[in-house]
Formats: sequence, C-alpha cells, structure tokens
Amino acid sequence: MDVNGGFTLSEYILRNGPNSQPCGRHWADNIEAVLLELKNLSVEFPASPRPLLAVRDISFAIGKGEVLGLVGESGSGKSVTSLAIMRLLPPQAIVRGEVRFASNNAPQNLLSLSPEQMRLLRGSRISMIFQEPMTALNPVMRVGEQVAEAVRAHNRISKRESLERAIESLREVAIPDPERRARDYPHQLSGGMRQRVMIAMAIVNRPELLIADEPTTALDVTIQAQILDLLADLRQKFGLTMLFISHDLAVVSKVADRVAVMYAGSLIELGSKEDIFRAPAHPYTRGLLKAAPTLKTERDHPLRTIEGTVPSLQSVPAGCAFEPRCELSIAACAASLPALAEISPGHWARCPVTNPAAAL
Ligand SMILES: Nc1ncnc2c1ncn2[C@@H]1O[C@H](COP(=O)(O)OP(=O)(O)OP(=O)(O)O)[C@@H](O)[C@H]1O
Ligand SMILES: [Mg+2]
Repeated sequence: MDVNGGFTLSEYILRNGPNSQPCGRHWADNIEAVLLELKNLSVEFPASPRPLLAVRDISFAIGKGEVLGLVGESGSGKSVTSLAIMRLLPPQAIVRGEVRFASNNAPQNLLSLSPEQMRLLRGSRISMIFQEPMTALNPVMRVGEQVAEAVRAHNRISKRESLERAIESLREVAIPDPERRARDYPHQLSGGMRQRVMIAMAIVNRPELLIADEPTTALDVTIQAQILDLLADLRQKFGLTMLFISHDLAVVSKVADRVAVMYAGSLIELGSKEDIFRAPAHPYTRGLLKAAPTLKTERDHPLRTIEGTVPSLQSVPAGCAFEPRCELSIAACAASLPALAEISPGHWARCPVTNPAAAL
C-alpha cells in the first residue's frame, strides 16, 4: 500500500487479476492510486418497442485526489452513470458491470453491496451534489438542521454537537455569519448560497469521493466562478477526489485533471485535460471543441455545428454511434463498435480513423 493509502499499480493488478490488463495497457495504468473504477458499466431501461441503452459498456478509473471531468451533450448518459455509481437509479434499471470503490483501502464492488451497506457509504464516503439545490433541500427545514441531520445519519452524536458541526461546515464553504444563516430556510438564501449549503452537506462527513453533477449550470457566471473556486479550495484542503459532470467544456477545462467524453451512452475519448483540449483525437470531441465559443470567436462568423442528430438510444447502431454524422467515417466504423485504444500514454480514443489502434 502506498503512503496515500491507495493502491500501487502492481497491488492493483494483483487484486484485480491479470484480466485487468486486457490488451497490453489498461485505462488505469497511469493512475498511481485508484479510488474508483468503472468496469464495463452498462445501464438499460425497459422501454417499448425496444429497451433504451443509456450507458454502453463504460470503463474508466479515478485516482485518489484527482478530478475527472465527464462531458457530453444532453442525454449522453452522464447523470445515469453517476446515479449508477450511487445506486440511485429507479428499480427497473438494469445495471451490468462493476463499480469498484477503494474506500478505506478496501476495494469493493458497489453494485453487489446490500442496500444497507450502500446507505452507510452514501453521504459519508461518497456524496453527491446536483444542479438544482432547491430540489435536494427540504423547503420546510432550516438549512443548519438539514446539514446536522446528514451528520447524525452517520454519527452517534447529540443534536447540539451535530448542529455545531453543521455550522462549522457552513463556515468551510464560506457562508458569511454561519450561525445566523443556519437558521434560514432554503428560500431565504440566494441560488449561490443554496449551492454552498448543498456542498456543506456533501462534505460534512469528509467523503473520499464527491460526485458533482452540473453543480454550476443553474448559476450565473460570477457565482459559477465562485463555486468553482470553492470546490478547488475544498479539494486542496480535504484531498477530495471528484467526478465532475458538465456539458460545458469551459467549466470542465477549469476544474478537471483528466476528461472523459461521452457520446450516446459510450465513452469515446479519455485523456488528460491537455490531451483533450489541445490534441483531441475523436472527431466528436474535435467537433465539440469547434462548437464552443471562445474569446476569439468573432460575432459575425457563426460557430461551427456538428451536422445531424444524436441517434435514439433505443436503436443505437452496432458500430460507432457517431458514424452517421462523421465526416471521416470508413466502412469499419459502422461494422462494430471500435475499441477504446491508447494513442499516447493515458490518452484513449474510440476511433479507427484518427486512432488506427482502435481498429484492432
Ligand atoms: N429513469 C429513466 N427511465 C428511462 N430513461 C431514462 C431514465 N433516466 C434517464 N433516462 C434516459 O437515459 C438517457 C441518458 O440520460 P442522462 O440523464 O444520463 O443524460 P445526461 O447526459 O445527464 O444529460 P443532461 O446533460 O441533459 O443532464 C436519456 O435518453 C434519458 O432520457
Ligand atoms: Mg444530467
């Protein structure tokens, strides 16, 4: 075990067996200490006339203390992936694969835990923040009491002590005058303050992993920047590991160390922030970056768009789901799903044209 309390690569392979290196290198090879690993995760919802395949065979790993940005347009399966990790999908969802979480250095597959074991992890070792805090907060309960309740759900302490911890947590997320604010109801707070309360609730039990699903999307840009700064501070202070979900590439480029790109339920590219933003390899990632406005974008030149539409998740093509919209497609793209193959250390792409290794 390394000093960080995670796994060294050799220990990791020993625990996971030789199959953790399926074809030479593995997606976790560049990660020193893996905290979370998704292995061939798929999620299907029963639907008529065909089931809806929301997440299709996704694999990636997050190292301890790292921020992985998960990007993709609306409906690409980002939230379903995070809810599968948290085991918060509705009961009809069919979830396959593994979600390995190395909490307190004891790796376990979250998908095979009992509901009670999962309840103990949720809100303590793993917590989640959402886009709209109003839907997650109880409108008729004072915010301090709500954070205190989260403390009591995982610790046997008195009401008074839990309220003290809640106020401390409100202070950690830079809510001014936290003793007084703790007595407010959610509607008395601004959107930015409510999101801070959500974050206070998420970190109060010192989780190892924080899943943030579009945490700043509902906020205006100045407040958004403040919340991103706060998350960066908390990461430094508590060594938080984060799965940061956003459709906004600019936001992801600010917070993430590595980026995973999803398209129609598939993971199509994975790499360091520099790989993805400076040398994107998948035609979809390249299209996304060209479609994002920058300071250099001229108003009289329209932004590039990607022609065509995302396929229905009830009839995802057998091959690459982006193939019908791709200017570079060849016959192999439609025949079968290209492999996610490595281009350079730690940079993976699922494209047999720009990355010929994916055709193997
Ligand atoms: N409970 C459910 N039952 C059936 N289909 C669902 C359910 N939840 C999600 N889906 C479908 O799964 C697909 C992926 O949805 P998901 O919410 O993960 O997208 P997303 O990438 O988070 O998009 P957004 O950026 O809009 O939040 C969508 O087609 C959605 O309609
Ligand atoms: Mg979502």
